Amino acid sequence: MEKRNQAAKLIIGAVVVIIAVLFLAGVVSRHEIKYKSTPLSRDDIAYRQVEAPAATSADGTITASDWKAIYPDIVVSWGKNAENEEVVDYLDLDPYLKGDEGIYEGYGFAKDYGSARGHNYTLTDVAKTKRPHGMANCLTCKTPNFTKLVNDEGVSAYSRPFDEVYAQITENGGETVSCYTCHANNPGNGTQPKDNLTVTHSYITKALGDQIGTIDPGILACGQCHIEYYFNPETKETTMPHSSVEAMTPEATYDYFTEIGFSDWTQESTGAKMLKVQHPEMETVLLGKHAGMLNCADCHMPVEQNPTTQNIYHSHKLVSPLEDKSLLANCLICHKELGAKTIDDMIAFVKNIQSRITAEETRVGNLLLDFKHALAAANRSGTWEEEKLDEIRELYRKAQWFFDFCYVENSEGAHNSELATRCLNTAEELINQGMALLNAE
Ligand code: HEC
Ligand code: HEC
Ligand code: HEC
Ligand code: HEC
Repeated sequence: MEKRNQAAKLIIGAVVVIIAVLFLAGVVSRHEIKYKSTPLSRDDIAYRQVEAPAATSADGTITASDWKAIYPDIVVSWGKNAENEEVVDYLDLDPYLKGDEGIYEGYGFAKDYGSARGHNYTLTDVAKTKRPHGMANCLTCKTPNFTKLVNDEGVSAYSRPFDEVYAQITENGGETVSCYTCHANNPGNGTQPKDNLTVTHSYITKALGDQIGTIDPGILACGQCHIEYYFNPETKETTMPHSSVEAMTPEATYDYFTEIGFSDWTQESTGAKMLKVQHPEMETVLLGKHAGMLNCADCHMPVEQNPTTQNIYHSHKLVSPLEDKSLLANCLICHKELGAKTIDDMIAFVKNIQSRITAEETRVGNLLLDFKHALAAANRSGTWEEEKLDEIRELYRKAQWFFDFCYVENSEGAHNSELATRCLNTAEELINQGMALLNAE
């Protein structure tokens, strides 16, 4: 009995010592590492179930100012998107795009194409663009009040006159991209993004169907607009050209448009039926190296703490990760093992990729312009068989598509440099094939 008691005491003692050692070596030191080098994360946020405030808007969307008493920090940070107001004129920066001489000849972007800026400017910018906007479908990605209109009225809302719907929305105090866009009328109800975010843009749910559950809600929220789309030629409704992640490649999307006989415009000088790519950020991210690991919020919405109230929340000011120290510190959690030792290394790593892609883009863009001039000359000459010209027009249309897929994507290769490079290489090959045909005659 004595002996057994002693043995038990020894075992208990040993277990206590082992636990203490584990605690000191593992848990304590891990906690210290977390505190010293890990910024705040979504795990630090105290999610809570709240009662929705009454909607003050005419259409029943609960506005940012309605939410202000409940989520003051989030609403204030959301308002700060206005600080991102600078616009770069891409037509001045890259003259090969511009006017009747450039590769966008005959399309609105040849006349007016500036860089994107903060979400607060969507309604101002869509009204003043020199690009044509006859129908309300141009409001798809600008305001939750149009989203609500489509959800209430159905797809006929897309073909209503732009001016009429724009006036109706702005006169009723309509908002730019706001809470309803990504949360419907119930933000914050759940600890996981899937409980907290709602896809309100119906063309996404329509296109993806069952597949929607396979995509991170923190990617879908942004992908509602940062995506390639087209207007259905008959119904004018906003439509996605793909219904699964596998079909989001530029190759598959091109084949889809060609199969349905779709083109955005016919270019006069070349006679080619052209396509314009929009802003395929969701595609490049889902097909990129971070897919399945990070969502858009992880890289563009830092978790912050209010120094007075200590409240921890996702900042809703959408920033470049290169301009935010806590986001950059997050990158290092993985990138330390991939060669970046410091925040400065991380910035340099991304900027290197971007400058390589930008230089290639300029080179291939100018080759595309040469191809366009040569094709236009052949088209003008009247000496070419239409069939041969069509063969070359197809190469030109396709080269422009692949070039554009890289050019209009807003990260300059940071989201997916392999895909950007593949697009530019494909464009260059097609240009070479076309030029060889033109020079052979
Ligand atoms: C463009 C999309 C978008 C808009 C607009 C938006 N949110 Fe969010 N919101 C997100 C994302 C993404 C998250 C992070 C989801 C997660 O990880 O749980 C989030 C998280 C939240 C959370 C959970 C708590 C937290 O800090 O993560 C609340 C509450 C919230 N948003 C409220 C709002 C309010 C209020 C507005 C309007 C002022 C708003 N959101 C506008 C995308 C959006
Ligand atoms: C309702 C459509 C919509 C949704 C949803 C949306 N965006 Fe945007 N976003 C836009 C539009 C439109 C612009 C360009 C605004 C302008 O220039 O007037 C823009 C601009 C931006 C910019 C500025 C680009 C630049 O070059 O400065 C960033 C960054 C951005 N969005 C990130 C996000 C992220 C991250 C999410 C998800 C949390 C998101 N957006 C969700 C429509 C949307
Ligand atoms: C692994 C991190 C990461 C993820 C995930 C990510 N981005 Fe980015 N994003 C970047 C970086 C880096 C840049 C380049 C920023 C710069 O040039 O300053 C960028 C640039 C952008 C830009 C151009 C705006 C600007 O400030 O230059 C937009 C718009 C954008 N991302 C949207 C998205 C959307 C939408 C998603 C999700 C579908 C997403 N990003 C996911 C890292 C990320
Ligand atoms: C969860 C881990 C993880 C985090 C966090 C992370 N990355 Fe990455 N990142 C990776 C991996 C893995 C690769 C692929 C490395 C490779 O294949 O060489 C990668 C590659 C990249 C690339 C090259 C992509 C390409 O297509 O060439 C860029 C740029 C990048 N990361 C930027 C960022 C930025 C900016 C952040 C922070 C905002 C970040 N990453 C955060 C894991 C991560």
